[in-house]
Amino acid sequence: MDLVLNGDVDGRMDSVEEAKTADTLIDTLFNSNTTTLRKRVDDSCRKFFATTDGATDRRIEHVRSKFMQFDAPAQGQSAETYLDMLDREVLPHCSHLASPRYLGHMTSPIPQFLPEIGRLVQTLNQNVVKMETSRGMAFLERQVIGMLHREIFGADKQFYEENLQTASSALGIFTSGGTLANICALWTAMRLADATQAAESTKPLQAAERPVIIGSELMHYSFDKGAQLLGAELHKVAVNNLFQIDLNALGEAVEKYRQAGRKIACLVAIAGTTDYGSIDALARICEIGKQIGAHVHVDAAWGGGLILSKSNRYLLDGIAQADTVTIDGHKQLMLPLGCGMLFFRDPALSQLTMHHAPYAVRATSFDQGRFTLEGTRPATALYVHAALHIIGKNGYDDLFSESLQRARYMAQAIEARPEFELMAAPAMNILTYRYIPEKYRNKKIDDQDNIQINRFNTSLQKWQRQKGDSFVSRTFRAIGQYDNQGLTLLRAVLLNPLTTYDDIDFLLNDQLHIARSLESEISGVPASHS
Ligand SMILES: Cc1ncc(COP(=O)(O)O)c(C=O)c1O
Repeated sequence: MDLVLNGDVDGRMDSVEEAKTADTLIDTLFNSNTTTLRKRVDDSCRKFFATTDGATDRRIEHVRSKFMQFDAPAQGQSAETYLDMLDREVLPHCSHLASPRYLGHMTSPIPQFLPEIGRLVQTLNQNVVKMETSRGMAFLERQVIGMLHREIFGADKQFYEENLQTASSALGIFTSGGTLANICALWTAMRLADATQAAESTKPLQAAERPVIIGSELMHYSFDKGAQLLGAELHKVAVNNLFQIDLNALGEAVEKYRQAGRKIACLVAIAGTTDYGSIDALARICEIGKQIGAHVHVDAAWGGGLILSKSNRYLLDGIAQADTVTIDGHKQLMLPLGCGMLFFRDPALSQLTMHHAPYAVRATSFDQGRFTLEGTRPATALYVHAALHIIGKNGYDDLFSESLQRARYMAQAIEARPEFELMAAPAMNILTYRYIPEKYRNKKIDDQDNIQINRFNTSLQKWQRQKGDSFVSRTFRAIGQYDNQGLTLLRAVLLNPLTTYDDIDFLLNDQLHIARSLESEISGVPASHS
């Protein structure tokens, strides 16, 4: 069927304002030529990306005040008028995630072919919950999950021939992000624990009998959410000086719960902590899990992408022994948001949380909705599929190697500046450090000093964010070398491939400049080199 598009010869979409009847409205909304609109959006994007600023310099209150209108518009307007409003009122306040001087968070710029793939995802609007609303995409989703499953677990050809496109189980699922993937992993672990506990007792569980989930104090807060939702106890173990789970402390915790007769439902290992990028001893944790009969989940939301990097995948050694693994495509794989994944080493695990419905998502179908917590879902698998075909493993290998090298450069650049204290050598591509004001340098820093230094670093980070020329985030963590005192730390994520060594130097010098101004403001003596 040929589509007849509305709009003038220049491709301008008709205005809804001009639509006098329901028929013309429907025509305008569904049959318009959007060529001009597309160019117009491209212009907005170009304008937005034209600056290297790390953040908007508008105050939060100012931005907030722009969004106080709460009556929904009765009368539609032209898309052009609407986009003009976005250009004026909204885009100037968006975060410059693609700026080479924005090193604050785990969201990077995305390769330029991906928004085009995104247009396909949105235009086709396939709902991968079931075959009747997605067909080809559902098999594509299973295929791409299988490709990554093989990179993680490395099972043999026959395993994938049998399990890749089989209706009865799944090698993994797509989720909206790492949070959902982690929660689904806990759900699986809890179903396994339930099965063993139910065999032993028929009474409802008392608080003191709830299954236990154990991981390091650096577990992402999705585990707090998951444990609460599922009625489990979450036990957090201390980390060592490299910010990895302390294996002795883990052993003691396991022993304590076993002696108390408690079921350990899940051990969590992290491959890339949110704060430091550190990687737990994956192989050892998997071994402990096996010994005690506990499910082992690896949260590789951040670090999991390294599995595609021939030169760096050794950092994830041991991951193949895990029972489940989370990877976020929208982090290190640099894909659009909404691209989480959970992998099951043994596809039978996917059956533990299976649900179906008579109107669709039928028991014997290929419907992926049987295995997912979410119902309706977009075909974000297409982003991973496209990236694997267009960038390829070799391309990701180069991107990861560059990113890790950038982190090593920044670590050296921090150490070369005596004003900063680096908390640990980079395990991957996240760094934490802090500024030490002059009066605390070259002396033993005590608790009171740290309280002042914390305040200083909080102000420094806020000032830098407000100034807007560069950006790092901040975190607050107990640090072993300071007797577990909580320290405010500056946190840089070195993911953006567009960040150059000059940008890193710019950012650090920007911080020094701000810090000197702050110090002089506090002491009342003007900064000598501001
Ligand atoms: C280690 C880790 N796990 C899980 C998550 C949650 O991912 P999402 O924000 O995609 O839900 C994050 C997010 O920062 C993370 O760093």
